[in-house]
This record gives sequence, structure tokens and C-alpha cells, in this order.
Amino acid sequence: MKKLGSLNCCWCLFQVILFIKHLIFYNRVMAGHAPSVAMEAVLKPSCELPEDMPKIRGYDFNQGVDLKAVLKSYVTTGFQASSLGLAIQEINRMIEKRLEPVEVDEGDESGDPPHKAGCTIFLGYTSNLISSGVRESIRYLAEHKMVDVIVTTAGGIEEDLIKCLAHTYLGDFSLPGKELRLRGINRIGNLLVPNDNYCKFEDWLMPILDQMLLEQNTESVRWTPSKMIHRLGKEINNPESVYYWAYKNNIPVFSPALTDGSLGDMIYFHSFKKPGLVLDIVEDIRRLNGLAVFAKRTGMIILGGGLVKHHIANANLMRNGADHAVYVNTGQEFDGSDSGARPDEAVSWGKIRTDAKPVKVYADASLVFPLMVAETFALHADRLTAGEKTD
Ligand SMILES: NC(=O)c1ccc[n+]([C@@H]2O[C@H](COP(=O)([O-])OP(=O)(O)OC[C@H]3O[C@@H](n4cnc5c(N)ncnc54)[C@H](O)[C@@H]3O)[C@@H](O)[C@H]2O)c1
Repeated sequence: MKKLGSLNCCWCLFQVILFIKHLIFYNRVMAGHAPSVAMEAVLKPSCELPEDMPKIRGYDFNQGVDLKAVLKSYVTTGFQASSLGLAIQEINRMIEKRLEPVEVDEGDESGDPPHKAGCTIFLGYTSNLISSGVRESIRYLAEHKMVDVIVTTAGGIEEDLIKCLAHTYLGDFSLPGKELRLRGINRIGNLLVPNDNYCKFEDWLMPILDQMLLEQNTESVRWTPSKMIHRLGKEINNPESVYYWAYKNNIPVFSPALTDGSLGDMIYFHSFKKPGLVLDIVEDIRRLNGLAVFAKRTGMIILGGGLVKHHIANANLMRNGADHAVYVNTGQEFDGSDSGARPDEAVSWGKIRTDAKPVKVYADASLVFPLMVAETFALHADRLTAGEKTD
């Protein structure tokens, strides 16, 4: 009984304290004080940020229309504008290293001449970029020998050659497939390619395939995709072509899935008329990997994903990772795709060095790559092309 009485007493005391607390809280709120819990949550003090940390600031058009200055302001604009700014800085670092003189005592075993560049730059791009006007930016880089190794997919080879034979046109993403098919017009996004272009390509290519087969059978030439692309660049003999310049400047171009496109269709048809042509991808993988292994430093510039992204990164695994890397692609990583993987995933595989400062720009390369070239290779054209004249 006595115990129960003291328990009651405690309960009453507790209720009184609670009442007083509520009263104080209520009075403070009524007196114009915000609840301290909310105050503390919202007005949490910050730690000091480093003084040299970039401050967000975009371009001020009161300075006039100065596209170069607009581009310069991207790095402090935030979001993908900053990624583009950082990618430009990273490519410029590749260029500075590329310009450093190197001793050329260590050759590779691939038959390629020993590399003179302080940084060997690998450029990769998906086929659609050659279908688009990004082709002209890529052609500029090949023409002036500003990159050292190219990797692309089959369409990235044939669309360049076909453009020397006939045009690709601007259409619309919404043009209906059924009507286009009836008219013999093919669509790549909002680009249109008449089917006749591929007929012209067949007429151009078949005699070259005949000749390649003859050389294989009579001169023991062992064709690889890179040797075939070199030959096609020579045969097209047109300065508008990326691969004409790759041939002229001895830039190796790799495309291990060279049959996955119109080139494959033509090789298929040719195999009925004159069977026996062989393309050796083993020799090419040795050559590509050798170019990475024996390079002093390497930089990767990869536009888009899929084969081109992985093929370059995998070659760089052979040297324990690229020193520099810039990705431009629209892929996301949530599905586990290699296309969408961020550079950090490649670091985990040893394809990018742990001390590298890789950048991924989430963007359509047709929007950003010409801007990147403008602020990097084209900006340093004089220094990059000094002493590199081709006849
Ligand atoms: N013109 C063509 O696109 C064309 C022509 C003939 C054959 N093909 C064949 O189709 C196959 C698939 O093509 P692929 O491997 O070259 O690439 P793809 O078109 O399949 O693209 C692969 C990934 O790259 C990224 N990407 C593509 N375009 C981009 C852009 N403009 N900007 C940023 N990111 C981009 C996307 O993440 C995409 O999923 C290849 O075997 C190729 O030979 C393509």
C-alpha cells in the first residue's frame, strides 16, 4: 500500500515536470522563438571550405557575345558544364605530355615504329559519330596526326568511306520506318542515308576485296581489320576521309568487329563469288595491346560506349592502366553496363591508373566533341603539328 502511494507521488511529479516543459516551450513559441530542434537542424554550422575551392560562377553576357569566354566559364558553371570544362583540362594535360620529348630506344614487337610521343593518345568513337558531322572533327585530328591510335566499330569505317561516294542527309527522328523503307531510305537518328549509297559502296568495294584475296593467295598477305582499313584509306584517296588521313599518317585503326555492318554484308556476298578471304583479329589484338604496353604514357578519349570503350580500356589494362582518361557518353551505370560504367569502375580493373584524374561527361558527343577539339587540339595546333608535315 505504502509502495503504491510513493509510485503515485512520482507519477504526479513527472506529470508536473512535463507540464512545465510544455509551458516553457509554448511560451517561447508564443514569444517569437522558433523551436530549438528546428533551429539546430536548419542552422547547423558549417566547417570551413578551402579558400582555393572553385566558386560557382557562369558567363555574364554583359561582357558581350564571346563564345570562347562562355566555354571558359563552363568549368565553374556546375553540372555537365563543369565536367566538360574538366575534360578539356584533362585533354590539355594529355597534349602537354604528348609534346614532351622522349627517347625512342624502346620499340614494340608489333612492327609499328617506336612511339615518339610523350603520351600516346587513343581515340575511340561509335559508328553513329562518323555518320554525323563529328566525322569532320575526327578527320581533323587524323589529318594533323594529333592522335596515335583509333578504335571504332564497322559503321565507323564504312560510313566515312560511303560519305566520299554519296551524301548523308538531315531528316527527322520521327520519320516513319515503314514509309522510309518503301522509299529505300535508311534512318540513323535524325540522319537519312539513301540505300543507293550502299549500292555505290558495293561497286567500289568488290574489286578491292578481289585484289585483297589475290594478294592473300599469291603474296601470302595475312589481312587483319587494321591492315584492311589502312588499305581502304589508301584506295579511297579522298582528303575528306578520316581513313585516308589515317593511312597517310600511319595511324593504326582497330575494329575487331569489322564484319558488323555494311562491310560485313559485302564480305558475306563476296564470299559466295570468291571464297577464302581471311581477317585475323589475333594479330590485331597483339598490335593494339603492344601500342599501350610500350607507350611512355597513355591517354584515352572515348566517345560513346560498347566495343570502342572497352577495347581501348582493355588494351590499357596491359600497362596497368591509362594515365589520362576522358569519357563522353550518355550511358548510365545502374544497369551494370560497360557502356555506362564510370571511370572509377575501370580503376578497379586496372584499366585506368589509381592516381589518374579521369573525367566522364554525360552528354551527346555531337554537342560537346567539336567544342572539346576547339579548346584543346585545335588551340594547340601550331605546337602539335610542328615538324609533322605529310606530303
Ligand atoms: N551508323 C551507325 O550507327 C552504324 C552503321 C553500321 C553499323 N553499325 C553497327 O552497330 C553496332 C553498334 O554500334 P556502336 O557499338 O558503334 O555503338 P552504339 O550506337 O550501339 O552505342 C553504344 C553506346 O554508346 C553511347 N553513345 C552512342 N552515341 C552517343 C553519342 N552521340 N553521345 C554520347 N554517347 C553515345 C550510348 O551509351 C550507347 O548505348 C556496331 O557493331 C556498328 O558497327 C552502326
